[in-house]
Amino acid sequence: MSQKEKINLKIIVGSTRQNRFSEQPARWLYEEAKKLPDAEVELLDLRDYALPFFNEPISPAMGQGDYTDETVARWAKKIAAADAYIAVTPEYNHGYSAVLKNAFDHLYHEWNNKPIGFLSYGSVGGARSVEQLRQIAIELQMAPIRNAIYIANFWSLLDTNGQAKPGSFTSLAENAEKLFSQLNWWAKALKTAREKK
Ligand SMILES: Cc1cc2nc3c(=O)[nH]c(=O)nc-3n(C[C@H](O)[C@H](O)[C@H](O)COP(=O)(O)O)c2cc1C
Repeated sequence: MSQKEKINLKIIVGSTRQNRFSEQPARWLYEEAKKLPDAEVELLDLRDYALPFFNEPISPAMGQGDYTDETVARWAKKIAAADAYIAVTPEYNHGYSAVLKNAFDHLYHEWNNKPIGFLSYGSVGGARSVEQLRQIAIELQMAPIRNAIYIANFWSLLDTNGQAKPGSFTSLAENAEKLFSQLNWWAKALKTAREKK
């Protein structure tokens, strides 16, 4: 399969704080996604995109993508290149993290007409955060998909250093397959539709 036929999948690490858990499931998911024959996968860490707190004079929906901030421009380029996304999200006070919302708010056209799936974690698997993110995705004209990975009580997976014990994520592989499969379907359908425009 040529590079052009493959879908470009970005996995977004949705928290940046010191000692964060997010990068552990994100790295595992990235390794699983790399096994997909028809996807080119990249892990995007919001730590590498220290975006300013959104403070632009006009909404990105009204703009033409002419970003003056270097980090926003780099972020926009990565998001524009993708056909599909998976956001790895914590749940902070029954909602999404501020850094993740800020990363969504900075752009608009770059997200449009593309599918997004989620991996979340928390006492109830981060499900409340995912439900809120799905609403945001709709406003960004995205297609949030049903299948997701929810890791409930993830702290039970950790050793005394806060690292997931070996094999902690193995049982999630079947869920990951279902998530990839649905995301792939939407990514291809919407890519075809975007190209016809
Ligand atoms: C400000 C804050 C609020 C939190 N609120 C919730 C919550 O509402 N539900 C939940 O399941 N966990 C909550 N937690 C616990 C997080 O699930 C846990 O700290 C997790 O490690 C956060 O993700 P991160 O390590 O990737 O930043 C909260 C943690 C923080 C720091």
